[in-house]
Amino acid sequence: MCEVIGRLIAGDCSAFRDRNAGVVVGAREVAPFDPAILLGDPVGWLTARVAHGLATLPSMEKSRFTVADLTGADPYKLATGLVVPRPIGWIGSISADGVANLAPYSFFNCVSGMPPTFVFSPGRGGRKDTLANVREVGEFTINIVTTEVVEAMNATAASHAADVDEFAEAGLTAAPSVSIRPPMVGECRANIECVVTQIIDIGHPDHGSSLVIGEAVEFHIDAELLDGTRINQLDLKAIGRHVGNAYSNSTDLFEIARPD
Ligand SMILES: Cc1cc2nc3c(=O)[nH]c(=O)nc-3n(C[C@H](O)[C@H](O)[C@H](O)COP(=O)(O)O)c2cc1C
Repeated sequence: MCEVIGRLIAGDCSAFRDRNAGVVVGAREVAPFDPAILLGDPVGWLTARVAHGLATLPSMEKSRFTVADLTGADPYKLATGLVVPRPIGWIGSISADGVANLAPYSFFNCVSGMPPTFVFSPGRGGRKDTLANVREVGEFTINIVTTEVVEAMNATAASHAADVDEFAEAGLTAAPSVSIRPPMVGECRANIECVVTQIIDIGHPDHGSSLVIGEAVEFHIDAELLDGTRINQLDLKAIGRHVGNAYSNSTDLFEIARPD
């Protein structure tokens, strides 16, 4: 880092380091910000780059993809390869005539804390029972995917006829919900009961998606995970989805203090 500072400002790097307590950014030692020494950096841009470890980034050459020129699965591959890891909403639903259904959706997220609001997005390329069910019944459960249930989650991604109950098919417990009709996965350490508030169609009717928006009405969480309403992140062992069949564990945690 001193080399970088020295090259950029032609200053005396060792003197700079001696006068300042070194801090470690990544694997290299850097000196803390001293505005006086950074001549020619009136707005502090250079200093900020050094302080945030940006000054050592290698140069890069970016390939550009214009979406209108892409074909087949390429837009999907680019989008899902970059927004990673994606959380997985394991969605429980029920048809109007009472057949329970369970399937994973990684176009899924929490988009509001109050009201607690969740979205997931079934593709409309072929029939998705989950989408048909939430259109009909207007309710769904979210079952949190953790290490313990990841294999069972994967099993429920298989295509089954609409009259197949995937809870039973995967050997999972269909635990009754309190305020809605679709069941929850009894084996999951946390579940959320949701009521659909909107369904927004995205893209082409034949190969676009539908964004399902729902508000939580009940949370069920293993008491062992809780400190009040704070959820122990290490113990939760939530799973993230990457591209294709790749997943990650969310147990490699670190903290960064936010600026005031
Ligand atoms: C981890 C994972 C995430 C998935 N995410 C989605 C998704 O976001 N949207 C989608 O349409 N299909 C997704 N799928 C595929 C569906 O789970 C699969 O098509 C399933 O059979 C749909 O079931 P359903 O017809 O009962 O709703 C995903 C599959 C896996 C394994």
